[in-house]
Amino acid sequence: MKFETSAEGETSAFGRFLGAQLQRPVTILLQGDLGAGKSVIARALARGLDVPENVPITSPTFTLMNQYSARLELYHFDLYRLADAEELTEIGFDDYAYGKGVALIEWPERLDNRDFDHLLVQVERLSAECRRIELSARGEEARTLLKSVAQWLTRAEKSIFSGSATKNALTP
Ligand SMILES: Nc1ncnc2c1ncn2[C@@H]1O[C@H](COP(=O)(O)OP(=O)(O)OP(=O)(O)O)[C@@H](O)[C@H]1O
Ligand SMILES: [Mg+2]
Repeated sequence: MKFETSAEGETSAFGRFLGAQLQRPVTILLQGDLGAGKSVIARALARGLDVPENVPITSPTFTLMNQYSARLELYHFDLYRLADAEELTEIGFDDYAYGKGVALIEWPERLDNRDFDHLLVQVERLSAECRRIELSARGEEARTLLKSVAQWLTRAEKSIFSGSATKNALTP
């Protein structure tokens, strides 16, 4: 399933919606080039999951993982600087990816094994302000999420993704 956003606020609105939908443990992979918008989605998703507004969501570039308490525990990974798979073992990656809370993983390309259920979110930069977002699901929980996003897009199409008046009202 694919859609396009034409401003950061629209990508954030998607992230926030996805975060608000999360009810059960799930792993979400955020894939895309440098500057695509993975962290924009991650920050919005954290708010949708009710990480309090006064808690800053920073990129775990050097720590590899930041943990937040919200409706579900959130484990935010950024694997860009991952040197080898042993580091993953050290931070207990398997425990998170296999269903403790919400595992949100930027740069999943660094993983040599994706043998777990997940929602894959691919972000592609089309121009300075436009992004194409493509979702694919593996497993029941991810499929449920994908379906709710599809329904939300149908509802939102006439408001968020057209006309700046409503767009601004919905921008988190
Ligand atoms: N439609 C859009 N959606 C998301 N981000 C957008 C959009 N238009 C412009 N941007 C800008 O693109 C940048 C995305 O940065 P972000 O840090 O989210 O990228 P990233 O994928 O996490 O990159 P990195 O791998 O370097 O961490 C931000 O500066 C944001 O303002
Ligand atoms: Mg990032």
